[in-house]
Amino acid sequence: MLLLPAVLLAALTASRSAEGSDFSPPVVNVSLDEAPEVRWNDLLKVFDINFLKKAAAEVIDSTVPKWVHQAVAPVALALDKYIPQPYEGEIRGLASHFGGSLSDIIILNFAYEISAFCTSIVAQDTNGHVYHGRNLDYPHSILRNLTINVIFLKNGEVAYRGTSFAGYIGLWTGQSPDKFTVSGDQRGDDHWWNWWKNLVSAFLLGRSPVSWLVRETLEKADDFQDALMRLSKIPIITGVYYIVGGVRGGEGAVITRDRTGPADIWPLEPVAGAWFRVETNYDHWLPLPARDHRREAADKALNATGQDHINMDTLFQVLSVFPVCNGITVYTTTMSAATPEKYTTLVRSEGCGMN
Ligand SMILES: *[C@@H]1O[C@H](CO)[C@@H](O)[C@H](O)[C@H]1NC(C)=O
Ligand SMILES: *[C@@H]1O[C@H](CO)[C@@H](O)[C@H](O)[C@H]1NC(C)=O
Ligand SMILES: *[C@@H]1O[C@H](CO)[C@@H](O)[C@H](O)[C@H]1NC(C)=O
Repeated sequence: MLLLPAVLLAALTASRSAEGSDFSPPVVNVSLDEAPEVRWNDLLKVFDINFLKKAAAEVIDSTVPKWVHQAVAPVALALDKYIPQPYEGEIRGLASHFGGSLSDIIILNFAYEISAFCTSIVAQDTNGHVYHGRNLDYPHSILRNLTINVIFLKNGEVAYRGTSFAGYIGLWTGQSPDKFTVSGDQRGDDHWWNWWKNLVSAFLLGRSPVSWLVRETLEKADDFQDALMRLSKIPIITGVYYIVGGVRGGEGAVITRDRTGPADIWPLEPVAGAWFRVETNYDHWLPLPARDHRREAADKALNATGQDHINMDTLFQVLSVFPVCNGITVYTTTMSAATPEKYTTLVRSEGCGMN
């Protein structure tokens, strides 16, 4: 008699994570009241230091050609002077506590910005509840073992949270409780060498990496409108899509960013029937490339779900449909700023197949 519920429960859990071995990433607390140099030290409670070193080397080796790596190492060190606080201190602390070289930790913090394909969805149900979900796709399996949920604390309270990779201080996914949620999707595809050149010149001009602006916005913005303003206007290093969800009906938008300002803002328009927006890696007003069916598949799955059935679970299911979730999907996050405790990330241990 006791067995039956357990079996049912197992079956339900299994159907939620299609591959069976998907898992929740470890949680790392970062106290903003501590000095930037030591605030990431809890990483070592969760990760073995030798694993971190090996993984960092692997990410760099597979992202950055060896000659570029050698060429940019001195540039990265010179750049250190131009990195604003608290990021400079955090990077320096990671380098000294994890025994990596400072230039490698700097390179690592920019290496991820190159080839991240993603899908982000913001949607609202018929009662005006706003849901936000994202898949992060990246062609390095090792990132699955580096994925972390980070809780940023101020005075012992949760200031904001997000999902990241051990050693990476920016956020591509995050939530300011009871205010708004943000995700970033890559726009355009720069090559490493061009990109590195842009990075250096942008730093000298005082522009922010896209993932640092997400953190800054989570830390400082008062509400959805303020977040939309900051994410639209503050100069950044490279183009990106910022997807933002709020706490009230109509509070959802996709911002298409140029380096210096917004190229376009694409809001939810629930009254006109536009109760969701899907952003992958293309400007929404242009035709989609024929070889990439992620947005079409997500649109179709959302249409099939219907506005009266959208919630955290059905949004997760939409983000599990192939090819929205695919062979290189690293993690899926679902969140809703109005119910901050429901923030959920699942690592896709083997990505998703076609079934
Ligand atoms: C992180 O901080 C939260 C909130 O203060 C606390 O409940 C939790 O136990 C902490 N977790 C770890 C791993 O220290
Ligand atoms: C990554 O994690 C998975 C599941 O926890 C484990 O089976 C695998 O060996 C790990 N890979 C590495 C390179 O540590
Ligand atoms: C989803 O529904 C909208 C509104 O009815 C429609 O315009 C769109 O073509 C549909 N998309 C897909 C992929 O079915």
